[in-house]
Amino acid sequence: MDLKGKVVWITGGASGIGLATARAVLGKGSKVLITDKNVVLGEKVAAELGPDVLFKPADQTKPDEMIAAVEAAYEKWGRIDGLVNSAGLGSAVNALPITLELTSPTQFRYVVDMEEAKKGIVPLEPFMVDINIDLVGSFNAARIAAYYMVKNEPDEHGERGSMVMLSSMAADKYALGNAAGYAAAKAGVLGLSREIAYGCGSAGIRCNAILPGSIDTPLISIDQYPEEFRPVAEVIFADALYKQCFPGTKNGKPENIASMAVELLQNWFATGGEYRVDGGYRS
Ligand SMILES: NC(=O)c1ccc[n+]([C@@H]2O[C@H](COP(=O)([O-])OP(=O)(O)OC[C@H]3O[C@@H](n4cnc5c(N)ncnc54)[C@H](O)[C@@H]3O)[C@@H](O)[C@H]2O)c1
Repeated sequence: MDLKGKVVWITGGASGIGLATARAVLGKGSKVLITDKNVVLGEKVAAELGPDVLFKPADQTKPDEMIAAVEAAYEKWGRIDGLVNSAGLGSAVNALPITLELTSPTQFRYVVDMEEAKKGIVPLEPFMVDINIDLVGSFNAARIAAYYMVKNEPDEHGERGSMVMLSSMAADKYALGNAAGYAAAKAGVLGLSREIAYGCGSAGIRCNAILPGSIDTPLISIDQYPEEFRPVAEVIFADALYKQCFPGTKNGKPENIASMAVELLQNWFATGGEYRVDGGYRS
């Protein structure tokens, strides 16, 4: 797909990977719809990015808000060609309460908090939050985008639209130890993406998934952790980086993922794929 003059919808576009992707597709001459639940940030970035950006506050899990946002972009620009589904988060949850034990300044292990474990069954809610936002929310965005994409005239390759889903290295290898909801949802996103690619291909709609490694965004910022947990969080993130082939102990940047998203939006022969951009973590 030639992105010039096209309309790309980016969920979670007020921050991190979504924001970097918004900048990248604007650079290709697209118009951009950003949806995000963070209204203050969304309005700020839309003002910075200029008139080819429309920001609409929309929670990924709320069908009415999402549909209203896309309808506004459709009314303004008359088409929706691309979706980059970047809204997401992770909660702390496992089947038993988990705590971390530092075994040396650079090593840790996950251990069940036995006292807590005997006090009661862990709550279901954090798991449901992750599934709802990261997996159900991804399908919500996909079904809405697909409805508008089928209205497009096919291009010379028969293409009507392209979707890019943000999964994670947590989908198939990286264990965070206390992220059962996030890992399950991100693995689900891979299945969802393949099914959309296969099932919607005859309508000229492509779908691919990206599995980022550790990327410098607010999502993995140490600052979000309570102060007493920060040294442990540093160890966890350092542990992930030790397993990269390249570039050693450095996180990736949002732009590393954005450029892959742009390639997948553009490349008409790429569909049903899973693309790792993780410094070789999975190798
Ligand atoms: N940063 C990483 O290391 C990393 C690694 C693997 C996968 N990912 C995935 O990449 C995607 C983007 O993450 P990021 O690192 O840019 O994080 P980020 O926190 O910078 O951006 C995520 C955005 O999603 C928005 N959001 C969260 N819940 C929402 C909801 N219910 N409705 C609407 N918007 C919502 C947030 O407000 C935020 O603006 C996520 O799906 C994340 O799981 C990130």
